[in-house]
Amino acid sequence: MTSFTVNGEPIHYRMDPETPLLWALRDASNLTGTKYGCGAGQCGACTVHVDGVPRRSCQVPIGAIEGAFVTTIEGLSNDRGHPLQQAWVAEGVPQCGYCQSGMIMAAAALLARTQSPSDAQIDEAITNLCRCGTYPRIRRAIQRAAGAMRTGGALTAAPPPHIDPEDAAAAVPALSPPPRR
Ligand code: FES
Ligand code: FES
Repeated sequence: MTSFTVNGEPIHYRMDPETPLLWALRDASNLTGTKYGCGAGQCGACTVHVDGVPRRSCQVPIGAIEGAFVTTIEGLSNDRGHPLQQAWVAEGVPQCGYCQSGMIMAAAALLARTQSPSDAQIDEAITNLCRCGTYPRIRRAIQRAAGAMRTGGALTAAPPPHIDPEDAAAAVPALSPPPRR
């Protein structure tokens, strides 16, 4: 049995100590926001915080983190109100979305230690891969969240830059299901 705390809750895992943290989280705790991408420590889709440090959970055996404090995307905030989550919406960052929870967790760790990261610092700290190429929007969202965190200002979701709010509102009906025939 391996015991550690996940999103504030003490958990005892009856799993092989060699089990990757990723599978303990997804299969035993049903925390499926943490994604499996490469399984080789390359892509970062599985990024969570272990004692505040971003770790690629596919590479962390649970036996190695006895007593640790793990935070997943589900535990980053209890109302999706973390400035990064709001900035992600405001900037319209995700495309397919698969890499995004890992990106946000990596970004959250960066902002916890660096209040005003430059684009170069962002690129250096976040080595996660996005096959959709959302990197420019990720940088913008991180800068936007950092600004809100520095000033304590509200950060409300808004259409991405260069999108007229009226156009965004007009697009909503087009997303409704087609009428039945
Ligand atoms: Fe862990 Fe890709 S799934 S780094
Ligand atoms: Fe598709 Fe990043 S949004 S992989």
